[in-house]
Amino acid sequence: MIALPPLMSEDVIRTRVEQLAGRINTDYANVSELVLVGVLTGSFIFLSDLARLLTVPHRVEFIAVSSYGSRESEDPESVRLLMDVRRSLEGEHVVLVEDIVDTGKTLAYLMRLLEARRPDSIKTCSLLHKPGRTEQEVDIDYLGFTISDSWVVGYGLDYAEKYRTLPYIAELPVEYR
Ligand code: PRP
Repeated sequence: MIALPPLMSEDVIRTRVEQLAGRINTDYANVSELVLVGVLTGSFIFLSDLARLLTVPHRVEFIAVSSYGSRESEDPESVRLLMDVRRSLEGEHVVLVEDIVDTGKTLAYLMRLLEARRPDSIKTCSLLHKPGRTEQEVDIDYLGFTISDSWVVGYGLDYAEKYRTLPYIAELPVEYR
């Protein structure tokens, strides 16, 4: 695997994840349980670091989606569910955890899906956001970093399933795509 210079170093990521966890700990200080729903696969490293910094009681669920054909599709329903959460979210306080919001289609789809499950509350958390790519507006309640429209890898993010376990985030140069 090629050596890529960090866009966000391990230290920078760690500091930001600590800040996000701090905000979540404050905001949910009075709830009996929080449900973190991680969107597979990209969120798994961010979620595991975030969850281990939480002092509020919480449980972890995962959900998996796929896009029909191209993610560039105009069809707002181009996202489909591959794997659901295991337990009911009714009456729960939910935080949906993403690694990146790109067009916004995945998060918009998941918000519609999970809001229909009648949780007590639902918020969104994403490590990265590419506002320049937005096609569907979605609120990101807990956001790590805003980035420009480049292909980023590491810390859960992949290119053709490679680089996910790189401990920092890097831009993948065009010649490697
Ligand atoms: C990525 C990312 C988000 C989604 C965001 O997932 O993890 O779930 O794309 O894109 P959107 O805002 O344009 O909908 P991907 O489909 O690459 O799967 P992965 O997490 O398994 O890598």
